[in-house]
Amino acid sequence: MAIERTFSMIKPDATRRNLTGAIVKMLEEGGLRVVASKRVWMSKRDAEGFYAVHKERPFFGELVEGMSSGPTVVQVLEGENAIARNRELMGATNPTQAADGTIRKVHALSIGENSVHGSDAPETAKEEIAYWFSELEIVG
Ligand code: PPS
Repeated sequence: MAIERTFSMIKPDATRRNLTGAIVKMLEEGGLRVVASKRVWMSKRDAEGFYAVHKERPFFGELVEGMSSGPTVVQVLEGENAIARNRELMGATNPTQAADGTIRKVHALSIGENSVHGSDAPETAKEEIAYWFSELEIVG
């Protein structure tokens, strides 16, 4: 199976509730390795740029506000089929629809405050990793 890298974020709703370690533990126990990690407080401009694909969506303002409301842990995860595996571990975007035992089922508060983000495809993983990390910061 392919060893892949994916981009992951622990969002402000989760860092605010001191859940960083609990979420990393679920990712690690799920077979993923953290190969880069840093804590950032996004500006509105950072969040608007990162989520530009959603700029026409009705919730865009709320998304940008939430993501710039506190610290986020941005990470690169590595492992077998890391992109799909990370999304499986996260669960559905809306926590009410997330499967039991997933990060969002256990920790998320709502569709907006859903605790984690993960890339959805190889091309977006590459772009999202490059948005936050230089190659030198990724140590496999
Ligand atoms: S998905 O998984 O991309 O198909 O989900 P989608 O529903 O398109 O949502 C994309 C991201 O927007 C966030 N979102 C919201 N934020 C704030 N308020 C509301 N109402 C809201 N609805 C959706 C959702 O958490 C997704 O964030 P990421 O970080 O991409 O998972």
